[in-house]
Amino acid sequence: MKIIEVKDYEEMSKKAAEYMLKKIKSSSQLNIGLATGGTPKGVYQELIKDYSQNKTSYTHIKTFNLDEYIGLKKDDPNSYFHYMNENLFKHIGISVEQTHIPSGTNENTVAECEAYENMIKNAGGIDLQLLGIGANGHIGFNEPGTSFQSKTHVVDLADSTREANARFFDRLEDVPKQAITMGIHTIFQSKEIILLASGKAKQQAMVELLNGEVTELFPASILNNHPNTIVIADEEALRGVK
Ligand code: F6R
Repeated sequence: MKIIEVKDYEEMSKKAAEYMLKKIKSSSQLNIGLATGGTPKGVYQELIKDYSQNKTSYTHIKTFNLDEYIGLKKDDPNSYFHYMNENLFKHIGISVEQTHIPSGTNENTVAECEAYENMIKNAGGIDLQLLGIGANGHIGFNEPGTSFQSKTHVVDLADSTREANARFFDRLEDVPKQAITMGIHTIFQSKEIILLASGKAKQQAMVELLNGEVTELFPASILNNHPNTIVIADEEALRGVK
């Protein structure tokens, strides 16, 4: 795992966007895995800024998001479909056919998970996966204890994750209790991974990721075994790492 230490959130966002844009511009076809939450918003802003200045083409790109809440319709302001559209897709000239997010409203969740996993496989896998990290080490919505062999599946969200995400909802009770997420195996199959971390809230997670053991009790730890992962983290997040 390569670690790039940056000054702050802004520099983290710029570095990650720069890296992604280089890949986007130099590939004839690229499958990008995307995350939601607070961490990648700055990266998406940088991509939008680049698009408005340089009109970088995304016609050869397919995107696959990590996860979606179960029970939220696409147009729900808290769905990840809505988040991606508002924070990135509608600003960079990418068509909805090029973007993929698990459906949170397919009543047959098992079929939805299988279809999503197959869609990634049939597209040739993910070339570059962008990740945030939960304070408990989750990646996607793979909570501690999830098998490293897991594929796209339904998860019960940890109370700590629902509490952390309650900031986007009116009330904690409104945060869905389940989600569909790419599995750890799905994520691990990505050819390249960029994990982002910024701020004090991620300090303990960085210590466990970079100084701890590889264990299913800390899902992100598997990335220590990945051949091509870059961690871009700011000084605050890395404080405490040996
Ligand atoms: C979101 C996702 C999650 C987040 C994590 C950190 O698609 O997969 O694993 O990356 O919960 O969230 P933030 O960035 O809000 O701290």
